[in-house]
Amino acid sequence: MLRIRPALPADYPDFARLFPELTAHHAPPSEARWTAEMVATTLIADEGGAAVGYLYGQPLVDTAYIRHVVVAPHARGRGVGKALLDTAGEGFRARGLTRWCLNVRPDNVAALRLYASVGMAPIFESVFLKFADWADIDALPADPPGVTAGTCAPDEDARAEAELGLIPGTLADARARAARTMRVLRDGVRFVGAGVLDPDVPGITPFAVATPSLAGALLRALRPFRRPDLAHVEVRAEANPPLAAVLEAAGATVGLRTLRYEGAL
Ligand SMILES: CC(C)(COP(=O)(O)OP(=O)(O)OC[C@H]1O[C@@H](n2cnc3c(N)ncnc32)[C@H](O)[C@@H]1OP(=O)(O)O)[C@@H](O)C(=O)NCCC(=O)NCCS
Repeated sequence: MLRIRPALPADYPDFARLFPELTAHHAPPSEARWTAEMVATTLIADEGGAAVGYLYGQPLVDTAYIRHVVVAPHARGRGVGKALLDTAGEGFRARGLTRWCLNVRPDNVAALRLYASVGMAPIFESVFLKFADWADIDALPADPPGVTAGTCAPDEDARAEAELGLIPGTLADARARAARTMRVLRDGVRFVGAGVLDPDVPGITPFAVATPSLAGALLRALRPFRRPDLAHVEVRAEANPPLAAVLEAAGATVGLRTLRYEGAL
């Protein structure tokens, strides 16, 4: 019998076994990260004591950001994914959240049908761009005069999110996670950039700039916090073809394209 239940720290081996089904280009998050950052907002699809799927989401201020939905290959096509989303949706609604969103590859037919079945629809396309070496970012435009890079105080997060069009709660959520570095760009009064580097991926999400010409300044502000053993870095240009074009012109290679799906809870 299928039971959707909250995850436990001891579910890590099942999480690590199922994670590769996402075909992410990086290793599963460590057990320490699972325990500290993921367990609390993960559901397990349990069939007769065996984990056959999981859903990991991040509740932000009013939006739930679904990060992973995975069903084991042998358990697909019989409602496990739908049951995970339905249960997650109930939980998020009970916390007062009103919207949910996620990123999905446009050719993932099963996932697209699943998300449409819970009322989500596509709103924009994102492109992942990879610099093979951090040194390559020096080909991006020089830092514009009057723009400064630095940190952001917790009580400024909401204003930075609003000025940069980020989902409310994005920066506060990133701040609560270990081993990430956040840097912002300001033009004096306004926030004109914000990025959060996860050095273990290595990637920068969110990566938000008011104009594409600021991409270099934001990347250069985060570069000192890279892992020296990982040469490359990836950023996601969200609904922003001009940013993708500037990064590509500087030598980044276009990787995965994803659709942002969003809907009311
Ligand atoms: C996407 C995934 C989670 C779906 O899980 P699932 O348990 O098979 O989905 P369900 O059985 O609940 O089906 C949900 C809907 O998808 C449809 N569906 C499932 N598999 C399908 C397939 N191979 N082709 C077309 N539609 C499919 C079902 O018909 C159903 O739609 P309906 O309600 O309109 O009938 C699963 O295929 C998976 O884990 N894939 C690999 C990881 C992945 O891609 N995750 C999503 C990342 S965004």
